[in-house]
Amino acid sequence: KKANVLLDKGAVIAEVDERIYGSFIEHMGRAVYGGIYEPDHPEADEQGFRQDVLALIRQLHVPIIRYPGGNMVSAYNWEDGTGPKENRPRKLDPAWQVIETNQVGTNEFADFAKKAGSEVMMAVNLGTRGIDAARNLVEYCNHPGGSCWSDLRQKHGYPLPHHIKTWCLGNEMDGPWQIGQKTAGEYGRIAAETGKAMKQIDPSIELVTCGSSGAGMPTFPEWEAVTLEHTYETADYISLHQYFGNEENDSQNYLASTIELERFIRTVTSVCDYLKAKKRSRKTMMLSFDEWNVWYHSKEADEKQELWQTAPPQLEDRYNMEDALLVGGVLITFLKHADRIRMACLAQLVNVIAPIVTENGGGAWKQTIYYPYMHASVFGRGVSLQAVVSSPAFDTKEFTDVPYVDTAVVWNEEKAELTIFLLNKHLKEDVVVRYSLKDFTHYRVIEHLVLEHGNLKVKNTLGKENVKPHRNGQSEWAGTDLQVKTNKASWNVVRLQ
Ligand code: AHR
Repeated sequence: KKANVLLDKGAVIAEVDERIYGSFIEHMGRAVYGGIYEPDHPEADEQGFRQDVLALIRQLHVPIIRYPGGNMVSAYNWEDGTGPKENRPRKLDPAWQVIETNQVGTNEFADFAKKAGSEVMMAVNLGTRGIDAARNLVEYCNHPGGSCWSDLRQKHGYPLPHHIKTWCLGNEMDGPWQIGQKTAGEYGRIAAETGKAMKQIDPSIELVTCGSSGAGMPTFPEWEAVTLEHTYETADYISLHQYFGNEENDSQNYLASTIELERFIRTVTSVCDYLKAKKRSRKTMMLSFDEWNVWYHSKEADEKQELWQTAPPQLEDRYNMEDALLVGGVLITFLKHADRIRMACLAQLVNVIAPIVTENGGGAWKQTIYYPYMHASVFGRGVSLQAVVSSPAFDTKEFTDVPYVDTAVVWNEEKAELTIFLLNKHLKEDVVVRYSLKDFTHYRVIEHLVLEHGNLKVKNTLGKENVKPHRNGQSEWAGTDLQVKTNKASWNVVRLQ
């Protein structure tokens, strides 16, 4: 099979905001306790953070990490996680029905993020709490000193403010599972007023208003329209969440499901722009895709979980080869919408639906999805170029006219680097893709990385990386065209300099 891609260096979608390579750590399962934090582990540093896990995170170049939830935040009292550890309460977390020991809280997480080389995206509780707790938290984190909450932070051993810039106004507040679920009108009002007070404490912060918790929600996209009526002026971003799964074991349909993601992004963008017109606003609302990933492998096991354990394994999906392809497809989609998507968080980072897995007391290892995420994050910085693709297409149970070839191209002019991200979704055939690159003929291919495996269901385990990239991809110049050979069901990264 053959496909063609036309590129022009002048056809720029937008500068890629590096925060689209963000991730997420929630207090649930073994994400924090037994994941990033395990004081008795031989690899633990002086604060109890696992250095082997930190090393794997650093390789991903994660620019921002959302924290502390997730559903958990909707019943969380942030004060519980501050002050001397021995005084912190053990609480029942109703969202995940586990014990929260509060041994890690705001200050420790800020330290952890610094060690990982990341910023913090902090979520406030709009389930059981509201304006008061949120504005106090902003004061605690960001005010230099000389006030009640900033002095308390200093007393807790943090003389300097954390300068947390990005804040989420609650989490998935439309969901029936959410503690303190709200109607769109209720949420719009409380989010607008909370955001206003938070920005009055620190005008430099940016706010994310909650969109629907998924495009499948019955209230989507009315939720966006109604809530933005209230929050358009106060918020800077609206959130989108989407999880994928191959429950029906139909791999071709599964790989096509980024079409649904495209639709979701376009619809939310349209609703935002409708509100912009209606409000005669000069501001363009940007998107924060602050939860996305594959999530389905662990659902059955989670239903059998015993209640009120401390850090039990929860949402521990073990990913296979086709999941890595899906993750690559999502990242390509984000790059194609770089003009509106300014942040995105792979949910999550360690153990809980995560690219990194740990053994309690043992090693840490990379799941299959680690690789496309790392490639995009490390190489996908620059401007996203418009790629005009003509590719043979396929139909599935749910989708029609899905191109076999999906691609995004990032140009970093400063470093003189062009990176092609390319997915071949054909399960049986190779596709040769010709990129018309008249502006880049002076560049040479420095590597063509490929992630592939004959068995789409194969997974990685501790000590056995069945799925890892190799550098034997075939790309060669033919005049002003770069001819890229892609094997069936493969993720490809072609780097030119
Ligand atoms: O990431 C796991 C959960 O998924 C989050 O807590 C919640 O926001 C979403 O439903």
